[in-house]
Amino acid sequence: MGIAASTLTLAQSKLHVAAPYLIEQTWADYTPEQHAIWAELVTRRLPQLREHACREYLDGFHQIGLREDKLPNLTEVSALLQPRTGWQSTPVSGFLPADAFFEMLAARMFPTTTWLRSRDSMEYTPEPDIFHDVFGHVPMHAHPVFANFLEHYGKVCAGLMARPEALERMGRLFWFTVEFGLIRQDGEIKVYGSGLISSHGECTRVLAGGCEVKDFDLDAVLNQKFQTSEMQPVLYAVESFDQIYEATKEAEKRLG
Ligand SMILES: [Fe+2]
Repeated sequence: MGIAASTLTLAQSKLHVAAPYLIEQTWADYTPEQHAIWAELVTRRLPQLREHACREYLDGFHQIGLREDKLPNLTEVSALLQPRTGWQSTPVSGFLPADAFFEMLAARMFPTTTWLRSRDSMEYTPEPDIFHDVFGHVPMHAHPVFANFLEHYGKVCAGLMARPEALERMGRLFWFTVEFGLIRQDGEIKVYGSGLISSHGECTRVLAGGCEVKDFDLDAVLNQKFQTSEMQPVLYAVESFDQIYEATKEAEKRLG
């Protein structure tokens, strides 16, 4: 377990509140059935995403070495990702408390679950699994501007831990960008939010015009309440990823 153990120890040494949630991903323990579920999830999503995902997502997918036929080995993903943007896909035991989550983002370590949904919940899981986390999130972390934005977001939120109202507003910024963000590219709406990337039903509904798409506006986003368990009635489209990085800095000024 030499490499995995030293990776875990190194990550633990860089973190404080998040350290107890770090685990090793025992990749060899995934079963053929689990690899088959991963393959089915990925091959179901890719045709739509090749047409409707932003180009940074599609580039990132290849840059971090994701495969259609096998679950990702997070050590290998991080080995490809880290030289590009300094980010790692770091295995954690499950849902993290807010302070641990923000500490990891600020350290460019994306908290990544290692469990995989079963066949009876192919479309939706209430808690994120490795498909949502790696297929949905991690390819975007290979993009330098998005990478900088997400680290800065973590730092801002870590500094707001004593301010629940400000954190709630920052949570909306995360929701309408990282989780459900849209971007205009080549005159079309493209998806980059992990909730859309990883959900065939919700993505199809949004692309078919089933939700209102507004131009990204920081004030509107900070004030827009949302329900995690329902289809989204309104989403926001940015013009570039610089826009969400700048919006995070602006939110920091206003809320800090
Ligand atoms: Fe997510």
